[in-house]
Amino acid sequence: MPEEKKLFKVTIDNITIEVEPGTTVLQAARRIGGDVVPPAMCYYSKLKGSGGKCRTCLVRVAAGSTADPRPMPKLVASCRTNVMDGMVVESMTNNTVLEARKAVVEFLLINHPLDCPVCDQAGECDLQDLSYDHGREGTRYEFERRTFERQDLGPYIQLHMTRCILCFRCVFAADQLTNRRVHGILDRGDHSEIATYIEKSLDNDFIGNVIDVCPVGALTDRTFRFKNRVWFTKPVEAHRDCSKCSGKVRLWMRGDEVLRVTARKDQWGEVEEWICNECRFEKKKVSDWIIEGPTKVNRHSVISAGHYVGVKKPHEALPEVMGGRKPKLVFDIHAVSDVNPTEVDLALLPGPATSETFDGNPNAYGKNVTDVKIGIEPNTEGTDTTNPNISELKSQNSK
Ligand code: SF4
Ligand code: FES
Repeated sequence: MPEEKKLFKVTIDNITIEVEPGTTVLQAARRIGGDVVPPAMCYYSKLKGSGGKCRTCLVRVAAGSTADPRPMPKLVASCRTNVMDGMVVESMTNNTVLEARKAVVEFLLINHPLDCPVCDQAGECDLQDLSYDHGREGTRYEFERRTFERQDLGPYIQLHMTRCILCFRCVFAADQLTNRRVHGILDRGDHSEIATYIEKSLDNDFIGNVIDVCPVGALTDRTFRFKNRVWFTKPVEAHRDCSKCSGKVRLWMRGDEVLRVTARKDQWGEVEEWICNECRFEKKKVSDWIIEGPTKVNRHSVISAGHYVGVKKPHEALPEVMGGRKPKLVFDIHAVSDVNPTEVDLALLPGPATSETFDGNPNAYGKNVTDVKIGIEPNTEGTDTTNPNISELKSQNSK
């Protein structure tokens, strides 16, 4: 008979569970689920070596084990602390822990800008959620914040280092998914920054996954930037036959347009299966995909706003009242404005869709709208202001 494995009993916020030795407190809490689970900004179960960097997952160990029931003297990072038999842990039930988390959020926000209204990550940003759940209203920081220029890391990814919280996830993702990592964290202390050193582009087949693991808006998809707000898009599960990856993705759609392709994420916001750059950046037509159905979105997420599955519409009485006639449109925005004309497929615009994209400027962004209208393939250089060609054109125009 196979030998029975000894399990460790651990109690987290008065809920007792049995787990295998070697399980961390965070993993044990995730088994329990709900509010007991500490937040995690750097730990990522799919990335080897991750965790221990951000301190958001702090908990108090009220009893170390049955053999040694003394409490641990300091709060500990639950992603890096293994359970012991008989351990008693306090997460949401301990005020010191909650205060410590507030301090950690305040610390993470020392340099992180509050530019959520214009940030592409808004609505799916772990730091935004963390600040709502555990943050303070204000900051006591009085010094100048550090800022960086945005940098294009190759044709698909943009780095906005000002938003980076140095969680190391993108570094571990590149280590694990590519043969040769060309970016990392340079310098030390408050000089640390994510960089490619000599601005080498990140062009490995699977490097797009760094966007998905980034908990904030520091690494964003250049093919999606400023195209839409995430809560206006509808996520659907889809797949395709791909020779490089599983081809199982999540499409973020608006009407019939595929605005963005990402990997599917689980309930902890972690990627289920890594996807390749081709699926992520180059397959933006509905015909490229076999649609499986709408993604189940947690009802507490802002992304679920207005997304209802299995809705029964109320009986429409207006046509009956109007004797079969259809009500007239009071105002057709597309007839009076050039903003977002219906024939322009936003997904095919190579860069962000800003007001300048639509202002008819023949040389810069306007050209792209025309290109898309007449079916020319997107310009992979992008139309961001960081694209030197565009900046040059803009300065010529202003002369
Ligand atoms: S760029 Fe994003 S994933 Fe990389 S270290 Fe910064 S916050 Fe983390
Ligand atoms: S998630 Fe544990 S230290 Fe960051």
